[in-house]
Amino acid sequence: MRNRKPGLSPTSVRFTGPCWIKENSADDTGSLQDATNTHVTLRKASRGKFLVLGGPTLVALWFIQSYALRYFASDPGALGIYEPRREWLFAHIGGGAAALLLGPVQLWLGRNRRSPLLHRILGIGYVLSVAVGSTAAFYLAFHTDFGWVAGLGFVGMSLAWIVTTVMAVAAISRLLIQQHHEWMIRSYVVTSSFVTFRVLTGVFSVANLGNTVEQMSAASWMSWAIPLLLCEVLLQGRKVFAPSPAPPLSLAVPAPTPVEDKAPEYPVEMPELEPAELVAHSSSKFSDNS
Ligand code: HEM
Repeated sequence: MRNRKPGLSPTSVRFTGPCWIKENSADDTGSLQDATNTHVTLRKASRGKFLVLGGPTLVALWFIQSYALRYFASDPGALGIYEPRREWLFAHIGGGAAALLLGPVQLWLGRNRRSPLLHRILGIGYVLSVAVGSTAAFYLAFHTDFGWVAGLGFVGMSLAWIVTTVMAVAAISRLLIQQHHEWMIRSYVVTSSFVTFRVLTGVFSVANLGNTVEQMSAASWMSWAIPLLLCEVLLQGRKVFAPSPAPPLSLAVPAPTPVEDKAPEYPVEMPELEPAELVAHSSSKFSDNS
């Protein structure tokens, strides 16, 4: 467990460097034990690096290769039902693919405080990709062939995409690093929800559940609502279940002293005065006090 300064809540912790350096610095005595610890920590760090950068990038590449690139084929029938809205689909795929690939790099750079300038430039790229991808997604959602329930699910997904990304930008513009980090994670969870959507429709289809419209409708809601819920459990659960530096409330707060059943001691009577006298009376009160 990581040592936390007393008085700092998990939300106010500011990262000052790569997490493995921070964890090891306290007991860096140069002994054999330290060398083993460093080795184990570096192994954990590279596992963390793969989880943050490698895993999502591989999934993104798989999705783009399997589902997105086919629409760019020269074959005249390649666009299928999207032929009438081809420009919107291309803009959408361009923005979505860029956001899918930039997200893991950004999370990794931000988490490890690497190359702040590159992080800022790619961050602008990520936000622009989401802006283009989500604007086109709104158009596609309002013109879907799969009914209003699926359409609304996509509208909800687009809204979640924009809101989480705007919150991440707002947080960093107010220098709230931890909040920015959390909102970026939420934003990327929504970015990946179209991947989840395709996986879910595949599962529903293999399981022979309902017809295509029903499968698309269920997946258009489940693919972002459930991942966002799980993400929240992970983000907030770490705070809810973090060991508290303060003693339990029952021990820290002394028992309240019984309130005495006594009348107030100050006089409550006011002399009956004319308005002019009242002004003189109150100003004399003020001059008494000064
Ligand atoms: C996260 C927010 C996203 C929303 C709300 C969204 C919304 C939509 C909508 C409404 C459609 C048309 C569905 C239809 O009527 O058939 C669509 C299609 C598509 N989207 Fe997205 N999308 C999102 C993210 C992405 C991302 C990140 C990519 C990555 C490249 C992507 C790639 C595609 C592709 C390839 C299609 C064509 C249909 C298919 O083959 O699945 N989308 N999207």
